[in-house]
Amino acid sequence: MSILQTKLKIRFFGDASLRRRAKAVETVTERDRQVLGEMAEMMRLSGGIGLAAPQVGINKQMLVADVGQGPVVLVNPRITKKSGMHALEEGCLSLPGIFVKVKRAKKVMVSALNEQNEKISICAYDLLARVIQHEMDHLRGKLIVDYANFFQKIKLKKELKELQRSQSEGLY
Ligand code: NI
Repeated sequence: MSILQTKLKIRFFGDASLRRRAKAVETVTERDRQVLGEMAEMMRLSGGIGLAAPQVGINKQMLVADVGQGPVVLVNPRITKKSGMHALEEGCLSLPGIFVKVKRAKKVMVSALNEQNEKISICAYDLLARVIQHEMDHLRGKLIVDYANFFQKIKLKKELKELQRSQSEGLY
């Protein structure tokens, strides 16, 4: 798989790093910039539009996103304002083949640090807003399967077991 070209590895469902609460970054260091760069590359190679540090086993509040409008890097992101609501089916690089409809705000204002350790504030709409909210969920150990309703959860149970099994057998 092309994602093996980078030093980091994507963690799949069942990996404990996906369920941790990521730690805030005090100062964005050169090493963090390097990790963020590798995450962006890995996201691109995997055909993803967002990736959070816990998905590569790094317990820090860092994420990258690119919905085709240019790369976005957010460290310690906080939503300061949100509006609108929209439900859409989402996938996740850590849960290949699994899709869950998730209701999220249509527009968000986010304050964060950028890769240069500067305070920034961005306003994101639609898909970018959705991706940022999805990745911010990863920073608190939350996954799309947590949004599934009771019946979906029963259906997903088998798929998730299969995913965990194939992961432990090293098929990914
Ligand atoms: Ni995800």
